[in-house]
Amino acid sequence: MTKRKINISDYADTIIKALPKGILLTTKAEKVNAMVIGWGTIGINWGKPVFAAYIREGRFTRKQLAANPEFTVSIPVNSYDPKILHVCGAKSGRDTDKIKEAGLTLVEPEVISVPAIKEFPITLECRVMYVQKQDLSALSEEINRSMYPRDVDSTATGANKDPHVTFFGEIVDAYIIED
Ligand SMILES: Cc1cc2nc3c(=O)[nH]c(=O)nc-3n(C[C@H](O)[C@H](O)[C@H](O)COP(=O)(O)O)c2cc1C
Repeated sequence: MTKRKINISDYADTIIKALPKGILLTTKAEKVNAMVIGWGTIGINWGKPVFAAYIREGRFTRKQLAANPEFTVSIPVNSYDPKILHVCGAKSGRDTDKIKEAGLTLVEPEVISVPAIKEFPITLECRVMYVQKQDLSALSEEINRSMYPRDVDSTATGANKDPHVTFFGEIVDAYIIED
């Protein structure tokens, strides 16, 4: 298995197009854990290449990031087992070994401590440089109502009303895993 270094700007389009279907964000603290993300921003902040991820406050991943502020972002190239998104996008690392259940192959990282994922080979290794809990009072009423329904009993409806926390990760390495 080899890693071919890539220029991030050459893959920004691929990453943005992949996001709505779901890509993986992996963390390593209590355990190695991958979750599906559909939101993400790639660009430049403080003169550095950055991937910003938006993680709801109550997620196990948020706890993992507090303990070890590094993550990998993994994007598919070809087709993959749909089980990967079903498991990593619905189950929680709190009570599931998602790496095992989703049949993911961990790959030794280059710079950070969090592994990459062979099945989703485009990889960004990120080190958190800034964490910002979203201020719901500054959000439009429409988004507040649809995304963070505080007047709704979430136990009855299943609505998730936790605010998102934005993790700005400096992209410290980028590559594609090849056979
Ligand atoms: C397509 C898709 C996109 C998702 N995007 C996000 C996201 O951007 N942020 C987020 O907090 N949860 C998102 N989720 C939900 C998490 O993947 C899901 O709650 C997961 O079980 C969290 O894992 P964890 O508890 O191990 O952290 C998404 C789920 C799917 C299926």
